[in-house]
Amino acid sequence: MIPQPQDAEHHAPRRLGWRRNLVGSRVLVTGATSGVGRAIALELARRGARVLATGRRGERLAEVAEAAAGLEGSPLLHAAGDITSPIFRRKLIHTAIEHFGGLDLVVAAAGSGAIGRFRDATADTLTEIMAVDFFAPAELVRESLPALLAGRDPAIVLVGSILGYHPLPLHAEYCAAKAALRSLAGTLRTELAADGIGVLLASLGPTESEFWNHLLTGSRPGWSRGRAMSAARTARIIVRAIVWRRREVLPGWRAKGFALLARLFPRLIDRSLRHRMRRSR
Ligand SMILES: NC(=O)c1ccc[n+]([C@@H]2O[C@H](COP(=O)([O-])OP(=O)(O)OC[C@H]3O[C@@H](n4cnc5c(N)ncnc54)[C@H](OP(=O)(O)O)[C@@H]3O)[C@@H](O)[C@H]2O)c1
Repeated sequence: MIPQPQDAEHHAPRRLGWRRNLVGSRVLVTGATSGVGRAIALELARRGARVLATGRRGERLAEVAEAAAGLEGSPLLHAAGDITSPIFRRKLIHTAIEHFGGLDLVVAAAGSGAIGRFRDATADTLTEIMAVDFFAPAELVRESLPALLAGRDPAIVLVGSILGYHPLPLHAEYCAAKAALRSLAGTLRTELAADGIGVLLASLGPTESEFWNHLLTGSRPGWSRGRAMSAARTARIIVRAIVWRRREVLPGWRAKGFALLARLFPRLIDRSLRHRMRRSR
């Protein structure tokens, strides 16, 4: 059974100022073993938040905790497991409440990708991508809500992709999952506003991380190479967006430019993609 947060009785909407104060904030970060999740966990710890970091690779989590110990901020707690498991997700929330006394911020950064034509892929690829990139963060949010409702200035951060704005060929499963996540962020933002829970969608463009090393199928496409943003810079932008209570953030000019093009000229993007696909046959 998940223990009751210590301050469960104070759950009226609590907007505590223009800027969110992260000092002492009780945070759960998924995908914290590498890349953007790791960088967000460290940036939050540096700013004085109490972080519970998770991912499957326990040795990596120990290394993140060591890196956090070298910062001025709070020590970082960690728990290894598969975020697609409902039992593990509940264990995480239980751990946060047990050790921190509650939960104020959930950052869902775990993600995984696959490259290849949809017709050549199997149902397993679609199932696994949807499980990691959509169902796990969606259910983690649902399962965290009782604790967040009792939290201090609570918020949810969903780490999405610019491919949630406009899909690319050879990324069908991933684009579908990130589009679903973007849609969920929109629903939650309005549904949870009256409860005082903020929702931030971070839609990333190409970012330096281990993402391309762990693809379920295929290999890193050319468009993702070069001029990718560092995970550390991306994390700083996302954490600043949490502080400033933003609803959406597109880190870097490439992400912003793509989202703008997708909004203004979707057919132009598709024409160029069709042309590329024909040339690559
Ligand atoms: N890199 C990019 O260019 C890019 C662009 C747009 C969006 N994004 C998004 O950014 C987020 C972070 O990705 P990243 O670029 O930082 O890639 P990354 O370095 O590969 O990090 C992915 C993280 O997700 C965790 N993860 C994957 N499957 C998991 C599972 N079943 N259970 C628990 N944890 C799992 C991994 O940990 P373990 O392997 O230890 O489990 C790792 O910590 C993802 O949501 C990704 O879709 C990335």
